[in-house]
Amino acid sequence: MALLTCMLAFASCSLAGQAPPQQRPTAVPRPALAVPLGAAVNYNALINDARYRDLLRATFSMVVPENEMKFDAIEPEQGQFNFQRADAIVTFAEDNNMWVRGHTLVWEQQLPAWLTNGHFTRDELMRILKEHILTEVGHFRGRVKTWDVVNEALAGTGLRDDLWLRVIGPDYIKWAFIWAHEADPQAQLYYNDYADQDGPKADALYTLVTNLRSQGVPIAGVGLEMHVDARQPPDAQAVAATMRRFAAAGFQVAITEMDVMLQHLTGSLQSQYQTQAAIYRAFALDCRQAPNCKFFTTWGVCDQYSWIIAATHHADAPLLFDKNYQPKPALYAVTGAL
Ligand code: G3I
Repeated sequence: MALLTCMLAFASCSLAGQAPPQQRPTAVPRPALAVPLGAAVNYNALINDARYRDLLRATFSMVVPENEMKFDAIEPEQGQFNFQRADAIVTFAEDNNMWVRGHTLVWEQQLPAWLTNGHFTRDELMRILKEHILTEVGHFRGRVKTWDVVNEALAGTGLRDDLWLRVIGPDYIKWAFIWAHEADPQAQLYYNDYADQDGPKADALYTLVTNLRSQGVPIAGVGLEMHVDARQPPDAQAVAATMRRFAAAGFQVAITEMDVMLQHLTGSLQSQYQTQAAIYRAFALDCRQAPNCKFFTTWGVCDQYSWIIAATHHADAPLLFDKNYQPKPALYAVTGAL
């Protein structure tokens, strides 16, 4: 009976303790998809915009904080951890029966000034990174199921010349995964990057993760970002081949940050939307048809909050919902494919 109660309430409640369900079911049933559809969450919109929250919980089964789990947000001063915003996103997800992907533990960007200006030795930076990862992953242990442990470490075919590589050396990648696994052995650990075509960078990515695996590093999967300019989308067959290659090597994959920028297209808005929908459909189908593709995430919910507008200083409409919260052809293309 307790099991039935838990299942009916969509809650992951403790049978041993017979605790009542803590989580509310979703207000609107989400489409039942074979591949989970997720979205990056803009914290300010989540807190301040009820229509945004409604759209999120009605459409997506997974969330990833767009900025609130990055190094500068979590550890703004050395040794002082601030989980308030990230906790709010995780609590929203739990309240709505969504799962959470953590993004990201190690990246060259969004680092606090104390870290970038600190002139630390290798041993000091190793200790800082270890404490950061153990504290952050430990804080969310059991609540964040998947982590982007290392983000965009490749620049072309080599490792990016960033703080981590310069001070620690290439081993920082291996240690980041080992420490994340130590903090939550159940979490699925991913390497995330935008090497999503079949060029030299995709080969470098394959070499990087298979080398880590051969050293016993606990890496479960590879995130393929998929920020696309509609004028020149990647080849969907090449992406499918990349997914198959990782499947053969025993890696999960996921589309982790998809959006489709329209600002370089001409023609009517409706024709641009159709072009965009076709691009989304192609990569959603890649994911649906790959045996190892575990989820499909868009980098935002609706157009008015997309990072692309701030980054390019240009109007755009890259997501599945428009700036008036209305579904676009891309939404039906993605949900149909998944
Ligand atoms: O928080 C500050 C705020 O205090 C300040 O007033 C404001 C003024 O510009 O900036 C705010 O920080 C911004 C932050 O987003 C939060 O809004 C940064 O300037 C801005 O650069 C930052 O952009 C984020 C970007 O990563 C950083 O490189 C985007 O929102 C975020 O969507 C983007 O996400 C990345 C993924 O993490 C990794 N893959 C690529 C993807 C797109 O670049």
